[in-house]
Amino acid sequence: MPTSPAPSEGAWPLHTARLALRPHRSDDADPLQRIYGQADVARFLLEEPWNVADAQRRVAERIPRTGLDSPAGALTLVIEHDGTVIGDVALWFGDREQQTAEIGWVLDPARGGQGLATEAVNAVLDLAVARWDLHRINARMDARNTASAALAERVGMRREAHFRRDWWSKGEWTDTLVYATLAEERRLPPAGPSSSTAVPAVASPSSPRSAHPRSAPD
Ligand SMILES: CC(C)(COP(=O)(O)OP(=O)(O)OC[C@H]1O[C@@H](n2cnc3c(N)ncnc32)[C@H](O)[C@@H]1OP(=O)(O)O)[C@@H](O)C(=O)NCCC(=O)NCCS
Repeated sequence: MPTSPAPSEGAWPLHTARLALRPHRSDDADPLQRIYGQADVARFLLEEPWNVADAQRRVAERIPRTGLDSPAGALTLVIEHDGTVIGDVALWFGDREQQTAEIGWVLDPARGGQGLATEAVNAVLDLAVARWDLHRINARMDARNTASAALAERVGMRREAHFRRDWWSKGEWTDTLVYATLAEERRLPPAGPSSSTAVPAVASPSSPRSAHPRSAPD
């Protein structure tokens, strides 16, 4: 995998039509606790609803995740809308040798139904392909998570697998859906709605790549 420096200071945020995406800061713990503290949000995640201490610990873990080529080897961005943190998108290596990454996402239910998660995930997929020369990006989710599956489909990911009762989660065997996209598929014209995102905003001169219920960087 080609290496490139992490985005330089000031390169963030990554702007889309309605959103700004940026690495985590310590003051994100409060707004993220309000999101991840909701039972509906945590239902299909690996973890239970966050309390304040959970949020502080998780955010501290995420702060160094500024890029796949950062020492942390992962990217975790908060999603801001009108200056408010409304969710996050995470990207991390599934198999570094095979240039494969995993992606995950969370959105405040109060901001759902407007395409904001779609917009954020499209921007991160475009960034992943443009910047880190990934070959393939996967999203794995509880098969009951129909909102997440619909989001994967809206961003052009393909359902490639449905594993039956393969994952022990919160006291029961659950099914897993695997969605994926290939770099060449995202590069195909026409570029689609995500073409309006501001991937160049984080480009560097030498740049060439959920809260996730089935695997996670944290
Ligand atoms: C998964 C999750 C992010 C999806 O949120 P969402 O609000 O459904 O997704 P979006 O923000 O992209 O909004 C899509 C909806 O807005 C509508 N929409 C409106 N304007 C739109 C636009 N410009 N572009 C796309 N969709 C738009 C879509 O039609 C869709 O509506 P529908 O739900 O009635 O079909 C959210 O349910 C969530 O965070 N869940 C909890 C955490 C979780 O499980 N994460 C995933 C782990 S794998």
